[in-house]
Amino acid sequence: MKKDFYRSAIKESMSKDILNFSSSLKDDLWIIEEDIIGTQAHNIMLFEQGIINKDEIKKILVSLEKIQNKIINNNFILNEDFEDIHPLIEFTVIEDIGMDAGGKIHTGRSRNDQVSVDLRLKFRNELNILSEKIFNFIDILLKLSKNSIDNYIPLYTHLQRAQLGQFSHFINYYIAQILRIENRINEVYKRINNNPLGACAIGGTSINIDRKRTTELLGFDGLIENSIDAISSRDYIIEILNLLSLFALHISRISEDLIIFASKEFDFIDIDGKFCSGSSVMPQKKNPDTLELIRAKSSIIIGNSFKSSLIVKAIPSGYLKDFQELKPIVRESFNLIFSIIEILCGIFSTIKLKNDNMKKAIEESYILALDLAEILVNDYKIPFRLAHQIVGDLVKLSKKPNDLFDRAIISKVLSDNGFNDIISSLSIIESLHNLKNCLDKRISQGSPSTKNVKNYLKQLNFEKKEFYDLYLRRIQKIQNANTLRNNIIQDLIA
Ligand code: ARG
Repeated sequence: MKKDFYRSAIKESMSKDILNFSSSLKDDLWIIEEDIIGTQAHNIMLFEQGIINKDEIKKILVSLEKIQNKIINNNFILNEDFEDIHPLIEFTVIEDIGMDAGGKIHTGRSRNDQVSVDLRLKFRNELNILSEKIFNFIDILLKLSKNSIDNYIPLYTHLQRAQLGQFSHFINYYIAQILRIENRINEVYKRINNNPLGACAIGGTSINIDRKRTTELLGFDGLIENSIDAISSRDYIIEILNLLSLFALHISRISEDLIIFASKEFDFIDIDGKFCSGSSVMPQKKNPDTLELIRAKSSIIIGNSFKSSLIVKAIPSGYLKDFQELKPIVRESFNLIFSIIEILCGIFSTIKLKNDNMKKAIEESYILALDLAEILVNDYKIPFRLAHQIVGDLVKLSKKPNDLFDRAIISKVLSDNGFNDIISSLSIIESLHNLKNCLDKRISQGSPSTKNVKNYLKQLNFEKKEFYDLYLRRIQKIQNANTLRNNIIQDLIA
């Protein structure tokens, strides 16, 4: 059989250069296993529907298994005469078992629904790998959070010291963001895990296929009803890239935080030397290169989401070859995010907190000013706007942060503002000086009092477990479908 057997009505053949330009063969390696699985399911269904007979399905499944083994053993030859993996596999089967049986494997389907099945099968696996990595990352962060309760850190707005906080509270914020990513993965997964197979080219088929059966054999949650929707829509790809883009954005900011905290100007953390580089010329340098690269690689992931929208936005309804360019983009984004998470897991599990330096930064700042103003509100019923002014005056008069608690200065400012009656009970104000007391006064839900932080940490642990159960259910469903298919295949081959 000639290798360009799809070109039944085209007289001219493609030159090597043009074939090279058009080919997705190398990118298709990413979905080759999924392509075989999809073909197995489709053909089991064709057999069950009486479209191919017992002898034919046996030959087809044996032939597909041979290809599978070659792929596993790395000796499946990627013959570059083919424009993509789909004709290559069909050709290989026909060459192996002949046209009578092999010529039937593509009955009632097209490459358009086939590539979409392959991608959906691949993406759900990639999303599961991503979740697994996310859970590992979250475990590391949960541990760090648990170990850094009552470690104080300045909290920043405008990159200026703003309020007293604690490190655990800071890490909990990262965890909450990442758990929301996992939540989104579940949402996206529901839409990815649907079966487009059976849409055929675009308008369905007169062959008596059973789409519900392939849905079951492939462990999909449902099927894409409309045949045009099944082969034309690419929202499922854009959605994944948007999700990865959002994750990349979080991760980039986390990296930026660490870079800042590790600088000598802050000196709040020490990043393990494994993740740092030296300078070619300045012997003293320890540069957080991996974090800088994460920041840049995140930009590539964010760019990929934009790039894919640009590719899809002007494509008329139907399948068009433009779609082919999306595959390497998604692969790149997944691979980048996987490597980034690995690095971050390493960094966070070896990070050293320089608690004394964080405490020093707190003590050298006027970070307790708002807490002080709130004491005036809570304990002395002074209107907040006035309290803001009084503490502002106090800051202006102070030469150093400790002066905020200097009786003489406080008394002066209070009496200047007409509050002589308070001066006798200044000990309430002085109690703020103790950082733990200060945080324990922050009773609002979500604030960094030790009680709040501990409760929230429990909640985060609980949420993580809930998401983990959902993830296990996703995996289980795929495993059940794999077992179902493999048992059928073994029976038919025997
Ligand atoms: N290589 C193609 C892709 O990645 C497969 C689908 C080709 N379909 C077609 N009608 N040319 O999208």
